Amino acid sequence: MINTVVEVENLVKIYPGGVRAVDNISFKVRKGEIYSLLGPNGAGKTTTMKIITTLLKPTSGRVNVGGYSVIEEPQKVRKIIGYVPQDLSADDELTGLENMMLQARLYGYSKSEARRRSIELLEMVGLKEAADKLVKTYSGGMRRRLELAMGLVNEPEVLILDEPTLGLDVQSRIHIWDYIRRIIRENSITVIMTTHYMEEADSLSDRVAIIDRGKIVVEGTPEELKSRISGEIILIYTENEADKQVMDKISTLKDVIDVDKIDKVIRIKVNSIASTINKILNLIEREKVGVKSISIEKPTLEQVFIEYTGRMFRDEEPVDSRRMIAIWRRRR
Ligand SMILES: Nc1ncnc2c1ncn2[C@@H]1O[C@H](COP(=O)(O)OP(=O)(O)OP(=O)(O)O)[C@@H](O)[C@H]1O
Ligand SMILES: [Mg+2]
Repeated sequence: MINTVVEVENLVKIYPGGVRAVDNISFKVRKGEIYSLLGPNGAGKTTTMKIITTLLKPTSGRVNVGGYSVIEEPQKVRKIIGYVPQDLSADDELTGLENMMLQARLYGYSKSEARRRSIELLEMVGLKEAADKLVKTYSGGMRRRLELAMGLVNEPEVLILDEPTLGLDVQSRIHIWDYIRRIIRENSITVIMTTHYMEEADSLSDRVAIIDRGKIVVEGTPEELKSRISGEIILIYTENEADKQVMDKISTLKDVIDVDKIDKVIRIKVNSIASTINKILNLIEREKVGVKSISIEKPTLEQVFIEYTGRMFRDEEPVDSRRMIAIWRRRR
């Protein structure tokens, strides 16, 4: 297809020692898209990125970037990509500007051109004021922004971001998202990124592939993926804890899929909120359980992951109700 910029086909990577880090994945990224690989630790995200950036050789499969094969024409691929690795890449002992200059000179820009480009990019990521400060004095967010700018030095067509906001606080993460959006708008480039933050993938990506144990378990726009979650969730915060009898009665109502409860919160999974909410509230009133408030839980990519893998995102345990409750609490 004409619009495809990155094409990964039946990619497999087995590390020496036998770890099958990438297990036959295929995906295509279109021009101008933000495409995210979302997955837990060890899913194979970085391995995939390193193969796309030509830093690592695949065991088998095909990867093309801008029409060039990463195996046969790695130099051509490197020319058109920018890469921001997961591990810190800026030099602590240099200033932001010096880091940029170094990067630009490595790409063969003349000194004056390197300088012009560096200053322009530092300005774009909001680091103009801090350009002459040593990187070791930067905050985590400033550092990540510098690295983002470093990845753009060679005016890439495809920008590859491996965990662009890893370890940053929520505020700085949202800040970085804004810069990423702006970079894409102003430079009309294609972005492939990895993340294990669900909200990040949801907020930034045009399309997401959820990757687990080296395989893509599901792919689509965040909206498509969330709409595949069956059922809707109603949360009812009660004055007093509802007893078992009430819970049993709720569970037998038509269109109720599942009910559970922690302390004074009843969580009800239903086929449709519209067709069940009145019946549920009437029942609760009849049973004299006072209601404090009601809320609707929106489907998240986390639920998509659970639905497709049968386990939680951050650990190996199968999903059981205790784990569900722990997450559900965190989310409130
Ligand atoms: N150089 C290596 N040699 C052997 N095994 C490796 C090597 N690099 C990664 N692995 C293994 O390959 C698997 C995938 O690792 P990878 O770094 O690609 O995952 P990831 O999705 O980027 O994880 P994270 O979220 O922790 O960054 C893991 O089991 C990891 O331990
Ligand atoms: Mg990684």
